[in-house]
Amino acid sequence: FQVSLPKNEPVKTYMPGSPEQEALKAELERQLANPIEIPMIIGGKEVRSENKEKMICPHDHKKELGEYCIAGEKELLMAIEAAEGAKEEWENMPWEHRATIFLKAADLLTGKYRAKIAASCMLVQSKNAYQSEIDIICELADFLRFNPYYVQEIYKQQPNSTDGVWNRVEYRALDGFVAAITPFNFTSIGGNLSTAPAMVGNTVLWKPSSTAVLSNYYIMQILMEAGLPAGVINFVPSRGVDFGNVVISHPKMAGVHFTGSTNVFNGIWKQVGENLNKYVTYPRLVGETGGKDFIFAHESADVEALTCAIVLGAFEYQGQKCSAASRAYIPESLWSKLKGRLEEEIGKIKMGDVCDFTNLMNAVIDQKSFKNCQSYLSYAKESKDAEIIIGGGSDDSAGYFVEPTVIVAKTPAFKTMVEEIFGPIITIYVYPNDKLDEALKDCDTATPYGLTGAVFAQDRAAIIKMAKALDHAAGNFYINDKPTGAVVGQQPFGGSRGSGTNDKAGSAINLYRWMSQRAIKETL
Ligand code: NAD
Ligand code: ALA
Repeated sequence: FQVSLPKNEPVKTYMPGSPEQEALKAELERQLANPIEIPMIIGGKEVRSENKEKMICPHDHKKELGEYCIAGEKELLMAIEAAEGAKEEWENMPWEHRATIFLKAADLLTGKYRAKIAASCMLVQSKNAYQSEIDIICELADFLRFNPYYVQEIYKQQPNSTDGVWNRVEYRALDGFVAAITPFNFTSIGGNLSTAPAMVGNTVLWKPSSTAVLSNYYIMQILMEAGLPAGVINFVPSRGVDFGNVVISHPKMAGVHFTGSTNVFNGIWKQVGENLNKYVTYPRLVGETGGKDFIFAHESADVEALTCAIVLGAFEYQGQKCSAASRAYIPESLWSKLKGRLEEEIGKIKMGDVCDFTNLMNAVIDQKSFKNCQSYLSYAKESKDAEIIIGGGSDDSAGYFVEPTVIVAKTPAFKTMVEEIFGPIITIYVYPNDKLDEALKDCDTATPYGLTGAVFAQDRAAIIKMAKALDHAAGNFYINDKPTGAVVGQQPFGGSRGSGTNDKAGSAINLYRWMSQRAIKETL
């Protein structure tokens, strides 16, 4: 058995009249007409509770997609028991058998369930067909196929032996279970955070985001259909505070695989610190957290490339990619031309219902996010230090819609230039051409984050200078391209500073974090 180096899943374009568009439309209609009740999955069994929450469409908040059951203390303890119970058999299963389950899940996802799963992500997370395709289909399938390949390559690595001595390393799972806590914005991340530790023999409690339960549940169903044994991954939608108190603080908790905001991860880290003397082993903490991702242009930059990067980088998926461009530094010599091109291109953006395939943008995820965007927009409108030059409007009468917005700040320290908003709002600072060094320093130091960033220049010396000045400002650094759209197997993803532990999702580095090595010396 050999996992060959996978190819990335090809992206379908859902052109009008294509079979994939027809299938997706039918599935959207079917899911809208048939609200469902989502149970927890604990020890391979469906578990229901009285405690339920409704799921709605962010683009039309009167449309209900169903409801999901919420795990409280009792169910979370059941899930821990199930994970602990499943561990020995799973951990001791030859890795090839584990791998085949995830490889089969990737084929089910990209095959017979493609339309169903893509539609769920569109409806509950308000993604257009393309954004849904590159997330829950292609990126997730890539994680499910590349990780087994990396696992195989890791397991091959063995130390030298000498005459009369046999040295070897056993790659064991962690001594306990792993808690996977996942965000709303990338469904692929939900699937990766739960399956990556499982691939190397761990059992997992998966807490999905409350605004992505529908699509995450369908992933869980696919994993089970692919043959995942009962108890290996336990699907427990729950409130953060309960999950923290019961699961994060549990003595057998051996690792947290988290993606979400910096504040929540900091809280988890603190909670782990407070419980340190309880744990059987030091828990591994892997977090991918917030960002304030930048675009930085040199005066030699190509304005067309910059325009494209700002429009797609800032506004695709309503600016809710962790990698989305949300601040830009532009030299004054380029500004007038760039401003005109941004007005033209942003003016063409259509926003609305996910079922209308001509919309580039849809709604932000929920009312909380809508209000958060509004408060930043009001702040910018009232400030003398900034001007909204494009957009600035919002409307929640039907869905949570926020216009694609460009703010121009007079100072690089302006609030919207330095704080993560997580919506379709980009702030631009126009710097004097002779102040390149100062602008680079601002870009590097203005925020606590270090997730993604892009520099634009045609002058090679300028590219080298910018890359050096910003060497820790972004874990994923782009030259003459938008800062979104990292592909598994091509650009391993993750940031440092306040953006996370930089354990690169979809890479061997990440998988090592879920293994505990035993080095054995045997004298022959
Ligand atoms: P969030 O922090 O609000 O939620 C993330 C997860 O944490 C959810 O499942 C949530 O229910 C859970 N949670 C909340 N409070 C908790 C607690 N006290 N204990 C345990 N779990 C708790 O983030 P979100 O709104 O889902 O996602 C947006 C954020 O995620 C942004 O800050 C974005 O930058 C970040 N993000 C980062 C990356 C990355 O790779 N760095 C990727 C995607 C998203
Ligand atoms: N792959 C996603 C992006 O880079 C996280 O935008």
